[in-house]
Amino acid sequence: MLGYSRRDFLSAVGVSGGAGALFATMGALGLAPSAEASVKTAFDPPQPSDFSLTGRSAKKVVILGAGMAGLATAYELGKAGYDCTILEALDRVGGRNWTIRGGDRLTELNGSTQVAQFRDGVYLNAGPARLAQWMVTMDYCRELGVDLEVFTNSNAQAYIYHQNMPAPVRWRTAKADVYGYVSELLSRATDAGALDAELTTQDKERLITFLSGFGAVGNKASGFKYTGGSRRGYSVNPGAGEQAGTVLGPVPSLSEVLASGIGQRFSFEFGYDQAMLMFQPVGGMDAIPRALAGKIGRQRIRLRSTVTKITDLPDGVEVEYQDRHGRTHMIKADLCVAAMPPHLLAKTQHNLGTEIQAALSTPTVANAGKIGLEYRRRWWEIDEDIYGGITSTDLDLATIWYPSYGYGAARGLVVGYYNFGAQADAYAVLKHADRERRAVEQGMRIHGAKYRDELASSVSVAWNLQPHIEGAWVSWPSRQGAYQLLNKPAGRVYFAGDWLSHMIAWQAGALESARKVVTELHQRVLSAA
Ligand code: ALA
Repeated sequence: MLGYSRRDFLSAVGVSGGAGALFATMGALGLAPSAEASVKTAFDPPQPSDFSLTGRSAKKVVILGAGMAGLATAYELGKAGYDCTILEALDRVGGRNWTIRGGDRLTELNGSTQVAQFRDGVYLNAGPARLAQWMVTMDYCRELGVDLEVFTNSNAQAYIYHQNMPAPVRWRTAKADVYGYVSELLSRATDAGALDAELTTQDKERLITFLSGFGAVGNKASGFKYTGGSRRGYSVNPGAGEQAGTVLGPVPSLSEVLASGIGQRFSFEFGYDQAMLMFQPVGGMDAIPRALAGKIGRQRIRLRSTVTKITDLPDGVEVEYQDRHGRTHMIKADLCVAAMPPHLLAKTQHNLGTEIQAALSTPTVANAGKIGLEYRRRWWEIDEDIYGGITSTDLDLATIWYPSYGYGAARGLVVGYYNFGAQADAYAVLKHADRERRAVEQGMRIHGAKYRDELASSVSVAWNLQPHIEGAWVSWPSRQGAYQLLNKPAGRVYFAGDWLSHMIAWQAGALESARKVVTELHQRVLSAA
């Protein structure tokens, strides 16, 4: 780069491409650590100035569904002045992002109704309840001013319970035993030369040093024995003076630990999407859709408006919908973004063709369920020293969640089951009172009689029975064919949702899908002849 210094070059890139381009270029030149390069999908929101040189103007867009994808679409297009209208069948925004508070009414497709009795400050995030730090949802929270707090996804104090175990064990105890025995075995095998084909003498020493700390096992003279220890926890806590505490015992045998299967739970928290730290909005997950709706303008969102027909025309899209009184209306726009679940679009009349119809019917709908159990006393904190986190079980309740908010308050809400598939179906077919009874009976195996006796109220959600949602999420047989087809517009109709992403069942999937559609739609408008 003769006559052009590296600094000049960098500032030129910075000026034209923004800080992101500058940083990426620095990374390419070896000036910035490449680990710092963004792993995020780039997104430039449309801006009013995008139209200034093209002579084109923002178009009218009708968006079907005020779930996270629909809201994000309207919000991003709105930044450039697009005239967006959202049609939403429910009487609230957010879709599956649904926070239930006292006074809220839940009606299921079979007509059964619950009214939440929760006290002030108690809520259930019936749908999404945790955000990973790397997800775009975090960026939206920052941009929208949604306050966040830590959501405790894994907690050493919470339990693992399998029905073949005599009693629940704390995660810390389970880890101590599994890591301990695995370390003992591997240390012995290494020391005995069983891995000599794989390891040098130095490797062996280093591996044994690692295992000594990892599993808290004894030295070579002791045969690298795992004998328990304070990592398991205490039956009497350490205290002052002479009170050294009593380490929790007895230590189960290696064979018992393997038979219990507890170690199979650990991989959960290694997941890219489930690893701590995780976050939640303060006061309920619906802070995100509410903030989006506020930015979009409530006048642009028509609630209780059920889409009945989508007609793609040469000069626009016509959408027919029914209002709360059953009256039929028509809205015409230049473009449409269908941000509804695929299985509901498949039940909606349209002229998008048989291939689109077959594609919309391709994914399989999965069920999930949750029950929120409000307690008069925070016994999990007071009696069991559990402040947030999740107990994992092989019972059909699957998991019990302790709240990551309201610590030390008078009341609190425990998620008594959060399960999927057949386990969720088993609860969905029951009346709410029976769901509660079943969840409480099972939870008592972990927490005892207080789990029943101190219950104040409850609410349960079966996602396959939620009107205008009818499922928790979908899965695709493959990402070829139907998935690819629906990731492209059908005429003037675009599709958006978590179901068109590689982050199904995450708000981030819906948000990324919305951004993709916004980018494509805006490029089309800018380049239209
Ligand atoms: N994303 C959903 C969860 O975290 C499936 O449970």
